[in-house]
This record gives sequence, structure tokens and C-alpha cells, in this order.
Amino acid sequence: MPAPLIAVLPGDGIGPEVVRAAVDVLRTVRPDCEYVPCEVGAGPLLASGKALPEETRAICERASAILFGAVGGLQFDGKPLEERPEWALLSMRREFELYANVRPVQVFPGLEHASSLKPDLVAGLDLIVLRELTGGVYYGQHRYERAPKRHAFDELKYDEDEVRRIARFGFELAANRRKKLTSVDKLNVIATSRLWREIVDEVAGEFPDVSVEHILVDAAAMHLVREPKRFDVIVTENMFGDILSDEAAMLTGSLGNLPSASIGTKTTPHGKFGLYEPISGTAPDIAGKGIANPTAAILSAALLCRYSLSDSESAARIERAVAHAFEDGVRTADIAGTGRPVSTAEFAAAVRASLGEAPIGV
Ligand SMILES: NC(=O)c1ccc[n+]([C@@H]2O[C@H](COP(=O)([O-])OP(=O)(O)OC[C@H]3O[C@@H](n4cnc5c(N)ncnc54)[C@H](O)[C@@H]3O)[C@@H](O)[C@H]2O)c1
Repeated sequence: MPAPLIAVLPGDGIGPEVVRAAVDVLRTVRPDCEYVPCEVGAGPLLASGKALPEETRAICERASAILFGAVGGLQFDGKPLEERPEWALLSMRREFELYANVRPVQVFPGLEHASSLKPDLVAGLDLIVLRELTGGVYYGQHRYERAPKRHAFDELKYDEDEVRRIARFGFELAANRRKKLTSVDKLNVIATSRLWREIVDEVAGEFPDVSVEHILVDAAAMHLVREPKRFDVIVTENMFGDILSDEAAMLTGSLGNLPSASIGTKTTPHGKFGLYEPISGTAPDIAGKGIANPTAAILSAALLCRYSLSDSESAARIERAVAHAFEDGVRTADIAGTGRPVSTAEFAAAVRASLGEAPIGV
């Protein structure tokens, strides 16, 4: 079998900094993989008019997995989506049908005090936000018109197959955890939520061991900060998932802590094909300073091992090494509080040291 090919797409802002840290760690546990750097985002968009160059797309097509940083730039604010760097990411999600976006929210021991909530509310927190990723308002039609007066229109649609497959994914996740699925919608206002709830209830029949509850998105936002440990797996549509997972990230202390896996129907000889990325953006306020928290990118690399390389052992090794670094008090500026912060590269070196390797690139 050929070595797994990992397409590495650092992108813009802090993307290259955190992806470099993640690749350093990933290479340590999986030196056998072929790592191919590819351009994406604002760089190629400004140079050639394409945020996702054809060459990058072709390498991703052949890859077992994509390790992604972030894309975007302030100079694109106000432009239509198709002319922004983010279009590259939306195109890849759609083209590779990466419909299931898994966002584990975990508070590592020692980080309880970094959370914006009281430590006892988040100690030991372990939930997953499962976000539908290829449907909903992100992929509907968008119009902004100036006459006869300024008005705008966004289309939100789902069909039953799209809801069924993400619901099943959610039940399967929950079945292997604490067996509780929370489905989040806005049944009292929007039609897609009526469909969503109906289909989730139908799929529930296939998973008698998993309990299911339905809550409205506004209530979900409230429960997340009131009693986050009541959740096991939250499944929800694209935009609600986007918003709730940023809220959930702050329970762990920083947007820079939360990894994600985007998975679809495609498989390779090594496992499920997927795209792995931090949930945050390009963080222009700290980009280029070498201080970004690379935890989300490193934990995304662990998810890559688990899903796309069918290698749970390496995934667990990376996760344990991150936990050890935190136990040793190693913290980047966003979660250091009054302690001495380390740089992005120093954090990666500490994780590699926990893996039993000498630091590189510091
Ligand atoms: N998946 C993606 O590529 C993606 C996702 C969201 C936003 N964006 C783009 O990113 C750009 C910036 O967006 P934004 O500022 O709203 O959100 P952001 O997630 O980039 O940053 C929000 C805040 O979180 C902090 N932060 C984020 N990641 C961090 C990390 N790893 N370590 C420490 N602090 C971190 C930032 O410093 C900032 O204060 C925009 O152009 C946006 O469109 C891209």
C-alpha cells in the first residue's frame, strides 16, 4: 500500500504558524506519511484570482486527508463570498461532500481556570458539537440589491437525505459515548427545523440505546453557559453549529483550543477521507507574532490520525502529549493568565518532548 498522502494547506494569518506546529507533531508520530504543502486562500487569490488553485485541488483529490489552517483577510471584508478566500474552504467542503463536522470540546486538567465560566462548571467537560457542513444557508442563494431600496435575501434549505445522514452520524457518535444526543433547531420559526426534527425522530428508532432530546437554538446557547456538562453530543444545522461551537470553544478557555474533523462519504485505503482544521479564523490581530495557540491544529492532527489513517493509537498519543504539556504548565498567551506564556513553536516543542522526541524548529 502506498504511504498516506497528507495535503497540508496552511492558508493565511496564523494558519501557517499553527499548521507548522501541527505538522512537526504529526511527523513525529507518523514519519511514514508524505506531507505535501499546497497554496490556498488570500495568497493565490490575489496572485492568480483563485483562492483554491487547480494544483491544490488536484493534490487534495489524491490525498488521504487535508490538514488545513485558516483563510481570510480584512481586505476582503464586504466582498461577495465567491470573491473571498473562504470560498476555497466552502468549495472543498462541498466538492468532497464533507457533511459531518465533528468539534470535540474538552477541558484539559489544569485549564479550568482559563475558561470564562467558573472552574467547577467546566472541570472535566467533554462534549461534541456535530455541525452539518454542506447544506443550509451557506450553500443557498445570496442576493444583495440596491433598488428600489437596499434589500437582501439568503436562502436556507435542507432535504431529508441531508438531515438523515448527519442525524445518523450523531447517533453513532453518541452510541459510542454517553448515549445522549441533543438535536438543536428553531422549530418555532423556520420550516427546515420542522423537517430536521421529524427526520431526527425517525432515525432515533434505529438507535434505541441512545436518548434524544430536542431543544431550540436560543435555549441551547443558554444551557451551554449555564450547565455545559448536561450535553454529550449536540447535532445541529450549519449556521447554528458554527455559532454554538465558537461559544463552546470559550468554555475551554480559547478559540485556539478547538480542533475539528470534516468527514464525508469518501474513503481511501487508509480510512475515511477528511479535512482537519482549527475552528478559529486567521486571527489577524496576532498573526505573524509567533504567539498563536497551536492546540487546535495539533488536536486536529490527532483527529486526522483517528479518522483518515485509522490509527487511534497515534491519535491518543498526541492527545496525551497535549494534556502533559498543559499539566506541566505550558501555556500560550491566550490561556496563560498571569503566568509566563510560551510561543507557538515552544508549545509544539513541549508536545514533541512529551512524545519523547527532541524539540525541532525552535
Ligand atoms: N475556517 C476558516 O478559515 C475561518 C473561520 C472563521 C473566520 N475566518 C476568517 O478569519 C478572519 C478573522 O476572523 P475573526 O477575527 O472573526 O475570528 P478569529 O477566529 O480569527 O479570531 C477571533 C479571536 O480569537 C483569537 N484567536 C483565534 N485563534 C487563536 C489562536 N489559535 N490562538 C490565540 N488566539 C486565537 C484571535 O486573536 C481573535 O482575538 C476573517 O477574515 C474571517 O473571515 C476563517
